[in-house]
Amino acid sequence: MKVGKAVFPVGGLGKRFFPITRAIPKEMLGIINKPLIHYAFEEAVSAGIEEFIFVTRHGKDSIEDYFDYMYVCAEYFDIKIGSVCYVRQNEPKGLGHAVLCARNLVGNEPFAVISADDYITYHKSCIGEMIKHYDGSNMVASMNVSPNEVDKYGILEIETETDTIIKAKSVDEKPSVRNAKSTQAIVGRYVLSYEIFSILEELKPGVGGEIQLTDALMKMIPTHGLTGFKFEGKRFDCGSKEGLLSAILEVASHDSKLNEIIKNFHMRNT
Ligand code: G1P
Repeated sequence: MKVGKAVFPVGGLGKRFFPITRAIPKEMLGIINKPLIHYAFEEAVSAGIEEFIFVTRHGKDSIEDYFDYMYVCAEYFDIKIGSVCYVRQNEPKGLGHAVLCARNLVGNEPFAVISADDYITYHKSCIGEMIKHYDGSNMVASMNVSPNEVDKYGILEIETETDTIIKAKSVDEKPSVRNAKSTQAIVGRYVLSYEIFSILEELKPGVGGEIQLTDALMKMIPTHGLTGFKFEGKRFDCGSKEGLLSAILEVASHDSKLNEIIKNFHMRNT
């Protein structure tokens, strides 16, 4: 099934990175010399996505400036950029609300959602692999997390499971450790039916007083199903300091000069 549009929700406040995110969007924090949003964008480009929709807000102008620059450099980076557009999320009302803001730009076709917080390394594009397996149901990237971390994620209740695909019976946003129905967590990659917009529009605030994308996915299970895609590759939660530092070290370890610095640092400190 062709998926040509990706939505990037970039309206989050980035509280875990205060104070730097008072002036710099968290999506513009760098893994070495590229901002997080660049990696998310590259993943979409290599999945064949041609239209890029950023759901942005006050204080995030540098993302727009950055993509002006990307247009200029597209040839240099050997990438094809179709249309890039921006829509504002005027209030931070959650991920579901951010996706709803993109409704008019998405129209009536399946679309991808990519969170720049989740940096995923793999020789294939995670969202690209999801699109290959997309069958018209709603699909989320999913990974196993430790049982004491389930309360940070949307958690799938598993109906059936293969090596790559989970059919979910239900999904809960940030359940307590006691109530979680599995340890399969949603990671920030989605391929969604446009019909989710009318569900999101009617949704009441959920966990944290926010409009939760997970709640819309749950409501659509009887009509559309919900598939978890067990992606390959390493995922870093770059919405946290620990995750961002780990991602920086991961990328640096693949560059001989930077890796030398990491090794010297270890030698000096062990
Ligand atoms: C969001 C989603 C959650 C998902 C997580 C993945 O939560 O609501 O279901 O598991 O992203 O990163 P957030 O981290 O924005 O609170």
